[in-house]
Amino acid sequence: PLVSMRQLLDHAAEHNYGIPAFNVNNLEQVQAIMEAAKEVNAPVIMQASAGARKYAGEAFLRNLISAAVESYSNIPIVMHQDHGQSPDVCQGAINLGFSSVMMDGSLEADGKTIASYDYNIDVTRKVVDMAHAIGVTVEGELGCLGSLETMKGDKEDGHGTDSTMTREQLLTDPEQAADFVKRTQLDALAIAIGTSHGAYKFTRKPTGDILAIDRIKEIHRRIPNTHLVMHGSSSVPQDLLAEIRKYGGDMKETYGVPVSEIQEAIKHGVRKINIDTDIRLAMTAAVRKFMFENPSKFDPREYLKPAREAAKQICKQRYIEFNCEGQA
Ligand code: G3H
Ligand code: 13P
Ligand code: NA
Ligand code: ZN
Repeated sequence: PLVSMRQLLDHAAEHNYGIPAFNVNNLEQVQAIMEAAKEVNAPVIMQASAGARKYAGEAFLRNLISAAVESYSNIPIVMHQDHGQSPDVCQGAINLGFSSVMMDGSLEADGKTIASYDYNIDVTRKVVDMAHAIGVTVEGELGCLGSLETMKGDKEDGHGTDSTMTREQLLTDPEQAADFVKRTQLDALAIAIGTSHGAYKFTRKPTGDILAIDRIKEIHRRIPNTHLVMHGSSSVPQDLLAEIRKYGGDMKETYGVPVSEIQEAIKHGVRKINIDTDIRLAMTAAVRKFMFENPSKFDPREYLKPAREAAKQICKQRYIEFNCEGQA
């Protein structure tokens, strides 16, 4: 069934696990996530970004997820709108039947300008008022995602700000987080701890100075009853990068968020872990390999099948690593 995100996150908090929230853009990704969840009996959060809505269109995304709800009737599924840029965008998603929305008020509606604290409170509070009236969950964001190595935002993959920022802006402040939660009454809080979207997060295996897991502990100590969300949490597996390079891809050296760090974060209040890039890498590696080994094949189903299988494997792995197994 389609459920609210609040319901799943409350259960995850009670039983001390984290739920990967996977971005979806097409049929094969939806099927991969559902098959993975079915095999390990895990709850599902599927989320659509602005980019996904632009690529597939809202009606296709909504109906793909509805098809999942219909085909896997025993698995609780959340249809979440990722990074809503304004109350209007969130209202639109709610009207379409999304059971959860993110109001990302860390940036202004242009998606680039760093917003004032008051602006963030104002837009998030507005979305909470309209969403809670009909049982829809709200995720907000405080602090700006970006790199503590370069002190820049994560504009690289087309959203966020590329302004130079201070350490203060790149790390969510625990006191301010407490005030933000109190004044907005949101359900889940996305925090900034040095992660960024896309494949190029860290130039080296991250240590505590550039991936601030300790900050999560401080925030959780201050607001223990708020579900925390980690964005930019792909692990960027080195074996997938190697596979992509082996079959003709050109990807620079890069590092993601180690699973062990996410597991530590789950012990300290992180309940939703956003993952998009790892699925992209898995599918691309599989397609490249297939194309290289089968130069005469041309039926898209033949290369989308291994791509879907690779996506399923990485999703299943994350479900197990985040202790989601058997929690559906
Ligand atoms: O929000 C970040 C996700 O990785 C979505 O990326 O905007 O390219 O769909 P996208
Ligand atoms: P990744 O790019 O690390 O997969 O993060 C996705 C994300 O945070 C979507 O909101
Ligand atoms: Na989100
Ligand atoms: Zn994100």
